[in-house]
Amino acid sequence: MSIPIRTYDAVIVGAGLAGLSAARELKKRNHKVLVLTKLHPLRSHSGAAQGGINASLAEKDSIDLHMFDTIKGSDYLADQDAVELMCSKAPETIRWAERMGAAFSRDDEGKIAQRNFGGQSHPRACFAKDRTGLTLLQTMFEQADREGVDFLDEWYVSDIIYKDGVASGVVAYDIRTLEIVIFNAKAIMFATGGYGRAFKINSNAHANTGDALSILARHGLPLEDMEFVQFHPTGLAGSGILMSEAARGEGGKLINSKGERFMSKYAPEKLELAPRDLVSRSITKEILEGRGVGKNKDCVYLDLTHLGEKVIMERLPELRDLALTFLGLDMIKDPIVIAATAHYSMGGIPVDITGKVRMNANQTTKGLYAAGECSCVSVHGANRLGANSVLEALFFGRHVGENIAKDLDKENYLELIEANESDAKNAIDEIEKILQNNGDEKVANLREELQVSMTENAGVFRIKESLEKQKKILQQLKKRYQNIRIEDKSKVYNTDLQEALELGHMLDFATFIVEGAIAREESRGAHHRDDFPQRDDDNFLKHTLGYMDKDGNIKLEYMDVVLGKFEPQPRTY
Ligand code: FUM
Repeated sequence: MSIPIRTYDAVIVGAGLAGLSAARELKKRNHKVLVLTKLHPLRSHSGAAQGGINASLAEKDSIDLHMFDTIKGSDYLADQDAVELMCSKAPETIRWAERMGAAFSRDDEGKIAQRNFGGQSHPRACFAKDRTGLTLLQTMFEQADREGVDFLDEWYVSDIIYKDGVASGVVAYDIRTLEIVIFNAKAIMFATGGYGRAFKINSNAHANTGDALSILARHGLPLEDMEFVQFHPTGLAGSGILMSEAARGEGGKLINSKGERFMSKYAPEKLELAPRDLVSRSITKEILEGRGVGKNKDCVYLDLTHLGEKVIMERLPELRDLALTFLGLDMIKDPIVIAATAHYSMGGIPVDITGKVRMNANQTTKGLYAAGECSCVSVHGANRLGANSVLEALFFGRHVGENIAKDLDKENYLELIEANESDAKNAIDEIEKILQNNGDEKVANLREELQVSMTENAGVFRIKESLEKQKKILQQLKKRYQNIRIEDKSKVYNTDLQEALELGHMLDFATFIVEGAIAREESRGAHHRDDFPQRDDDNFLKHTLGYMDKDGNIKLEYMDVVLGKFEPQPRTY
């Protein structure tokens, strides 16, 4: 079989906010750039971000306050140089997005309106009703398209060409035809989003299967802080669909079966506007202690009825629609039912502050970059504040795009290493093996077992025994994965094949989550160990770096946190 090889300056994998803003920057600087995405760009998960994007715009707010809230929210695991860069560029990022056409909601004076979000000392989330991500995604897509960025939609990237610290391309196939192509480039950037689909109840799109993480890990590259998975406090009962933190920002109350506004016990000052890790644990504790509501007593109420129709229709119309559609409840008249839902990945592909992917704690790769949720820079540390992810994606996407452009312009730095057909061998072998395998395991069953067991054993509350149990379950699932059979053996829109590849990726990165969580014998941010309930700065104020060997075993190392002017303190709200 002859494999076509196409050549670019830069190939970006993923077309959410990070990928689009990077691509636009590169194209504006006259580089030949291609965006490869397994969806249409406007279906990227950035479009599901509802509530807002943080920037200190108000007179009483400041960059220092934004930094402090972010670092305290991160339970002091965030790298303070990266936080400073992001927070100081946030106001400019909002103005830049607005100039490009993003229509933010306004206050009575006609200024950009800002709402409260959890863990913030000032209303700081700029928003477009409760469709902030979608508004920004449409704007960025229009702008990237206007610049003439090349897109290939519905292409699945299944491998990277990487040798001795240098990346020179990706191998991808057209989902419509299974045509395999090598995309040879001087620079590759991953911007593929999160991996919440490893959990049963989650707020993530079906596409969020963490492919890029496992693709890099299979080449011996590290993954960082994978044990930190954020559970958003308010997912719709049953499905986990996001009910934006904007609902609590606008005044929503959390109520248990006894009619108690229970957050007063857990966060007496901030109540429902405590950070997500704390609110998710509080909701889960109420349920575990028997004060849940609903048929199975596995939810609590989110009550917005006191806000009135006008506020709900002006500020939260999307949420109302979602609750009506999926629960049949009208939040104008009735409390809705919610529980914690896997939402965001603080960990990911380790990058330095310029977006270069790390080979280890001391060295970066060449020609390989990442930004947005798939990366770990780390601005969120152990727990992200709401409305900082859209900021991270938009700001770091553009920043990394600029840095790639500068690297491409440097003489003798990023040169094209010519690819050849044999570079597609791994990808072809993996696809052929799945197509030809005739075992007796079904992908959907293995995925269900993975998601249910991850939620049970590596979810909001963790303990050594549950994590060790999950480690064994993953080993067994990986063995059974070798014995799968897909029904569709064709080359046309073979979603069976894609789901099988995705499951392989999910099983690999889930192992990093569990191994990181076993080793981190403390509680910090979203990682809560019932057997080690305190934060332990002496032993664990450090980032985890995990490496996978050819047999799937994980080796862990640790990397210093970049500290700064905000000293670690006890974290109360
Ligand atoms: O709650 C939300 O609207 C989600 C925003 C975010 O994750 O930043």
